[in-house]
Amino acid sequence: MNRRTFLQTSAATAAMFARDGHATMSARSANDRVQMGVIGPGSRGKEVLRQMLHVPGVEVVGVADVYEPRFAQADAVAERTVFHTKDYRELIARPDVDAFLIATPLSLHREHLEAVLHTGKPVYSEKAMGFTVPDCQGIIAAARRSRSILQIGHQYRYAPWIVASMERIRKGEIGEPTHVYAYWHRNNDWRRPVPKDDPNGKLEHLINWRLYRETSGGLVTELGVHHIDLANWIFGGQPTHVLGTNSIVRYRDGRTVGDNTQCTFLYAGGKRMVFSSLTDNAKQGNEFWVYGTEGSVQFTIEDAVFYYEKKKPLPKEANATVVEHGVETGASYSTGNEMPYRGPGDKVQVTYIDPTLACASAFFAAVRGGAKPLANAEVGYRAAIACAVAHDAVFTEEKTPIPALPVV
Ligand SMILES: NC(=O)c1ccc[n+]([C@@H]2O[C@H](COP(=O)([O-])OP(=O)(O)OC[C@H]3O[C@@H](n4cnc5c(N)ncnc54)[C@H](O)[C@@H]3O)[C@@H](O)[C@H]2O)c1
Repeated sequence: MNRRTFLQTSAATAAMFARDGHATMSARSANDRVQMGVIGPGSRGKEVLRQMLHVPGVEVVGVADVYEPRFAQADAVAERTVFHTKDYRELIARPDVDAFLIATPLSLHREHLEAVLHTGKPVYSEKAMGFTVPDCQGIIAAARRSRSILQIGHQYRYAPWIVASMERIRKGEIGEPTHVYAYWHRNNDWRRPVPKDDPNGKLEHLINWRLYRETSGGLVTELGVHHIDLANWIFGGQPTHVLGTNSIVRYRDGRTVGDNTQCTFLYAGGKRMVFSSLTDNAKQGNEFWVYGTEGSVQFTIEDAVFYYEKKKPLPKEANATVVEHGVETGASYSTGNEMPYRGPGDKVQVTYIDPTLACASAFFAAVRGGAKPLANAEVGYRAAIACAVAHDAVFTEEKTPIPALPVV
């Protein structure tokens, strides 16, 4: 896609938000220049930056990263040479930075967020908002003290098919949503390549931070946080407790987080979210099911489909009992009752927009005086705190309470 197409896409995104009432970007402010500073332009940071640079008027002026190869990579995304530093505090001190993107490993989010929030400048920070329970509590306190606009990278809050589905769920189309079943199943080792010359394992930990408990919440945090955020949106609030387990079933390669996990999150009113992540079988993919009393919705990363519970009772023969040798059998497992529904469903009709581009566009709309971010600090807290607790709960395998959002 060339820059002209990017600009058209961004304009369409802004128009969509304006129509749906999520954000507005006035004609006057839409082209105000915003100069970004990026802390941690790694895999995700470069992608978010790439999307941000599609938004008209957005530039990058500097990056901070402790891993030198990132500087040339960030320059390539920027299509010019920008300011580089290994010390993020030098970037934060620069007056030419108007807003920040933080995309460092999870265990550093608190340090980097607190420092940026202190400047009062807007910040887009990647999920999960915080790593540990004290980190999440510290970040929410800092966000509330700060004048900064804070948006967390929960981009599915901005995905058009999810926004449209949420409105239909809210209007009661699937009755009362009572359960969420979320899967994120892959078939790969979740490892990243590390340069051969790494005698003390420093690069292994810098690059594969996701595989070690001291820096990672594992699959439930890295992948499940998106699902927990959506379940929070559907049920309202956040889970009160979590029960979970994890194990290493395939990749015995020195990692200290599980290569699979299963968790149940408990919500008020008996509602539940069940999350499963595998790394050795990809059949299920990334699927998020909302089950309601009158129907179900399936979200994927690119669409959503509604299904409805059967309204009419099944014909008599479908429930028929079988009498053979004078014994009556069969009623409770008649296939007419128990077969999964395999109908076509009702696909949500929306124009596809990359959720990260939509999320970035909403951020700059807020920076330019439009609507405040939907994926704000409270949203970030409610998802991250559930992960922070699940992080230990999958090892203790005990039902563990999740601290509520602190009252102001
Ligand atoms: N929203 C999404 O869909 C999504 C997708 C992928 C990752 N993420 C999130 O983005 C964040 C980064 O993930 P990633 O996959 O890009 O990781 P990464 O390891 O590829 O990138 C992190 C970068 O931070 C740098 N870094 C490490 N310590 C630093 C320090 N002290 N100061 C400055 N830079 C430092 C690393 O060198 C690296 O370049 C994580 O929080 C992750 O969960 C979000």
